[in-house]
Amino acid sequence: MKRALVGMICLTLSGGTLAASIVDSKHNLGNIGGNTANRNYTDATQEVCVFCHTPHGGSATHNGEAVAPLWNKAVTTSTFQTYDSLGTSSLKGSVANVGSVSIACLSCHDGSQAMDVMINQPDSGGYTAAGASLGGTWTANGAVDAATGKMLTANPIPGVGTDLRNDHPIGIQYAGGLISGTDHTNASNYRNPDFVAAAEVTINGNQIWYVPVPASNATTGLANSVSGSQISPVAGTRNKTDMALYTRSVATIDSGRAQPYVECASCHDPHQANTATFLRIDNTGSAVCLACHKK
Ligand code: HEC
Ligand code: HEC
Ligand code: HEC
Ligand code: HEC
Repeated sequence: MKRALVGMICLTLSGGTLAASIVDSKHNLGNIGGNTANRNYTDATQEVCVFCHTPHGGSATHNGEAVAPLWNKAVTTSTFQTYDSLGTSSLKGSVANVGSVSIACLSCHDGSQAMDVMINQPDSGGYTAAGASLGGTWTANGAVDAATGKMLTANPIPGVGTDLRNDHPIGIQYAGGLISGTDHTNASNYRNPDFVAAAEVTINGNQIWYVPVPASNATTGLANSVSGSQISPVAGTRNKTDMALYTRSVATIDSGRAQPYVECASCHDPHQANTATFLRIDNTGSAVCLACHKK
């Protein structure tokens, strides 16, 4: 049954138009591929993944937590101001230190280091634990300082900077955390009741949580889509169109109990070139927001 389903999905995809790839997107910082009028890129390499991933020697952890797979950048050492410091009376969840996948994103988006600084450069040799620049010339397109290769932060987007008080909270417990029990799939346990129940699966012995995004939104009835095409998520596993939640254990929050947090990549998939702004699904009808929030 599972096999038949997978087969069907492949057929559906190959029947459609060729999906855009990260190569066509603003996350391609290399001197290869199209869309150059819209991109910032360096002439130093024709590789694409290398700005973020390396097959060997990446920075696996930060404060003992996984950052992002095979991460090829030393993570930012900036000090951040976080959303909870605003003290809004509506916020229920506790906020963790900036870490997990968010610190990977912020290693470019806080403007602290050049975007061609990497741990393991293309080709033989070129490994530097602290990271080193490729030393090429940047073609800048608004968001990047051509002289330094760093993201500009005068505007809070796309250079998010280190003041995260004007950004959707990250490193935040899902749904305000639990007011009772340990079951995140039961929404009546949530401290903030206005949230869609999370799903939980165990993969390779790791408990992971996510917010399942069904084919249509439960509140609006509108189709959830990518590039205008309705999604067909597979049940019982995390699809890339689901809102990812990231497992963290933070000593100061619920005595370090492992639990799901919202991070940058909960809403964004950094490879998703078929939606605007790398969102996991199109935000038509505020589908991204309503995937988690019951409003
Ligand atoms: C701009 C940074 C960036 C670039 C460039 C990039 N990735 Fe990623 N990648 C990430 C981040 C961040 C994650 C973790 C995201 C998550 O948790 O979903 C990730 C996760 C992954 C994963 C595991 C999760 C998944 O979505 O499957 C794979 C596989 C992967 N990347 C492959 C690639 C390949 C292959 C390329 C080049 C064609 C590439 N990436 C380019 C940032 C990047
Ligand atoms: C290697 C550097 C790098 C990393 C790491 C990185 N980005 Fe980016 N990102 C960029 C650049 C460069 C742009 C293009 C900015 C522009 O031209 O507006 C960009 C643009 C974006 C945009 C706006 C896209 C658009 O169409 O306007 C989003 C959203 C984004 N990044 C999210 C993320 C998230 C989330 C992560 C982590 C999962 C991440 N980025 C990691 C370099 C990076
Ligand atoms: C709760 C969901 C959510 C989280 C978490 C989130 N974003 Fe976004 N982000 C969005 C949405 C939705 C948009 C599109 C906004 C729009 O259309 O103006 C966006 C837009 C952006 C843009 C492009 C803005 C522009 O108008 O050019 C960047 C860059 C970005 N996000 C980076 C990040 C980074 C880095 C993080 C983590 C620090 C992050 N996002 C966390 C939902 C989120
Ligand atoms: C991945 C799940 C998720 C998505 C998607 C999401 N949010 Fe949130 N949002 C949260 C969580 C968790 C909180 C913290 C709730 C709490 O602690 O009370 C939050 C908090 C907020 C708050 C309240 C902050 C406060 O001070 O009380 C606003 C406003 C908000 N989100 C708006 C949005 C909007 C608008 C979107 C779509 C662009 C969005 N969210 C998408 C999970 C999400």
